[in-house]
Amino acid sequence: MLIPGIIPTMSDPTILSIETSLDDTCAAVTNGLRVISNVVSSQTSYHADWGGTVPDIAKRLHQEWLPKVVSLALRRAGNPKLDAIAVTRGPGLAPSLEQGIAYAKTLAEKLSLPLIGVNHMEGHLLSSYAQTKNGTRGLPTPLYPALGFLISGGHTELVLMRAIGDYQLLGVTLDDAAGEAYDKVARMLLLGYPGGPILAEMAKSGTPKIHLPEPMTTRPDLNFSFSGLKTAARQYLEREKPELTKEFIQDFAASFQSAVFKHLMKRLRRAIDLYSPQMLLLGGGVVSNTELRTTTRNLAKEYALPIHYAYNKKLITDNAAMIGVAAYYQYLRKDFIDPSALDRLPNLNFSPID
Ligand code: KG4
Ligand code: ZN
Repeated sequence: MLIPGIIPTMSDPTILSIETSLDDTCAAVTNGLRVISNVVSSQTSYHADWGGTVPDIAKRLHQEWLPKVVSLALRRAGNPKLDAIAVTRGPGLAPSLEQGIAYAKTLAEKLSLPLIGVNHMEGHLLSSYAQTKNGTRGLPTPLYPALGFLISGGHTELVLMRAIGDYQLLGVTLDDAAGEAYDKVARMLLLGYPGGPILAEMAKSGTPKIHLPEPMTTRPDLNFSFSGLKTAARQYLEREKPELTKEFIQDFAASFQSAVFKHLMKRLRRAIDLYSPQMLLLGGGVVSNTELRTTTRNLAKEYALPIHYAYNKKLITDNAAMIGVAAYYQYLRKDFIDPSALDRLPNLNFSPID
């Protein structure tokens, strides 16, 4: 069942993957670990006025866009002969997941192909295994146990990976996810939606001189919390009523980010000390943050721990190629699902620590 360090060959399966867990309509073609095409159609501008994803809009756009996105992914891959169809079954927004699942089921039945249901977070976790079309740039030699650090808009998780397919959830956020906190604080600063990347950009030029508290300093566990920090940010803005000059926003962003990083790094360090992993895998949209990557890389260096994340930004934020990578290993294990049994699992997770 467990296949660490598999070397892909040209006889590897070609899989069409579909990902609609939130508000990106995504399709990709992979061959083994090679990404042949990776189409992401972002709905962001349709949700921006509402300051967050609107389920009805997301559902309607997925439905409307899926046929076009899938045919573009197939065309860009040269319309290859497919061996399987894969789709995200959770976690995510139920009305969004349903659209991708319904489309994948219909396609699998029409083409008489096996169907694979994928955990979105496993996709993020394995995103660094993805290779270029020519088989370059993926993870060189996987080492286990690995520690996965998944930091996205919906999740903040530490996962122990003993092998591909063998995962244990070590820690989760008890309230907001890290990306969600970035987006909410960005909104307080009127930076638009999703403001996480803008806030991170502003932080680069700021000084962390405003006191915003590091979360959960007295709890010696591996869980996360961002809602207290978010509240402290809101209270500061309400109390001080600062003029939102560029300089203020930069300093405020740097102060927020500094508290986030302290919290993330404290948990990461603790997990490394407790579980002695042989490699560190980063995944999820917040990993697009170059400062976060540098901070994490520096910590890993202290432990002489190899660290990996996907080779390009499109594989880090939500996409279907990472679903194709996870699906590839399921294909090798013949982990297929009958279309009639495939349902959305909005709260799907890795198994928790005993
Ligand atoms: O993994 P992802 O694409 O979607 C989910 O599965 O949630 O992550 C999206 C999240 C958003 O909250 C977005 O604001 C955040 O990732 N994000 C960032 C950056 N780029 C994206 N947060 C901080 N710094 C960034 N550079
Ligand atoms: Zn995601």
